[in-house]
Amino acid sequence: MANRVAVTGGSGKLGRAVVRDLVEHGWDVVNLDRVPSPDALAPFTKVDLTDYGQAVEALTRIDDRYDGVDALVHLAAIPAPGLQANAATFRNNMLTTFNVFQAARLAGITNVVWASSETVLGLPFETPPPYLPVDEEYAARPESTYSLVKHLEETMVAELCRWIPELKATGLRFSNVMYPEDYAAFPAFDDDPELRRWNLWSYIDARDGAQAVRFGLEREGTGREVFVIASPDTVMTTPTMELVERYYPELELRRPIEGHETLLSIEKARRILGYNPSHSWRNHV
Ligand SMILES: NC(=O)c1ccc[n+]([C@@H]2O[C@H](COP(=O)([O-])OP(=O)(O)OC[C@H]3O[C@@H](n4cnc5c(N)ncnc54)[C@H](O)[C@@H]3O)[C@@H](O)[C@H]2O)c1
Repeated sequence: MANRVAVTGGSGKLGRAVVRDLVEHGWDVVNLDRVPSPDALAPFTKVDLTDYGQAVEALTRIDDRYDGVDALVHLAAIPAPGLQANAATFRNNMLTTFNVFQAARLAGITNVVWASSETVLGLPFETPPPYLPVDEEYAARPESTYSLVKHLEETMVAELCRWIPELKATGLRFSNVMYPEDYAAFPAFDDDPELRRWNLWSYIDARDGAQAVRFGLEREGTGREVFVIASPDTVMTTPTMELVERYYPELELRRPIEGHETLLSIEKARRILGYNPSHSWRNHV
């Protein structure tokens, strides 16, 4: 029988692409969310993961639907700053992540992929990053409550991995998630590069984000690893070096940047996960 994976937030923007990709690649997927998915590709159980009891039940056994879960993909969250009051974002996101990791521990699930965020790199970069391209090698710089929670989650997971030596936890620092229907807006970004400077003009195609999740589940080894996950190109038609020279002329450039290459380094993901993104907005507009 296929390995069973529980996807929290499987009805959301990124979650829908993740559920589709995992189903297409032979995983037995269950979707745990507060709302159903319009796709109905995987059995759905309505849960509020801020309730520990519901998290435990959902990662253990749901009546006659399933008994036992082999792996967890945790995406459920309020997905950006400003959508709700900061205290509500903190409560929902922090508690949800604590609960699902604790429930996974109780259920003996040792393979977890969870959504972190590009924001921990220092978005919106009102303080410039230490160097370009940005990568996983410098300390987190959360600038909002949303991002602070992502940083606290990364920190919590490092400790959990110390407590549970067999735990493999893969944190994916996703860039801004996009679908082909979002790409029609991209050519206008060139009129005002300031519009997308806040994340260094990066994005992630949801399908490539889903690939990174699957590769995270398949990663060898144990312990916590975090990866920046972005599309290989920017949202701009202007070459990346022109943007660097205009907005960040003082910054150390750690390697040459070519063409429309992203300033969010995906080298670690390529090297360790085998991440190989294949979708670009340039093929859709
Ligand atoms: N969208 C982006 O640009 C982006 C960028 C970086 C990281 N992320 C992260 O990726 C993940 C998915 O983001 P998304 O864009 O798909 O968000 P989304 O809002 O579209 O989906 C999130 C889903 O989680 C569910 N959810 C939230 N709290 C829950 C709870 N307490 N119990 C049960 N379900 C709950 C929601 O119902 C929703 O369906 C999030 O962790 C987000 O922080 C998103």
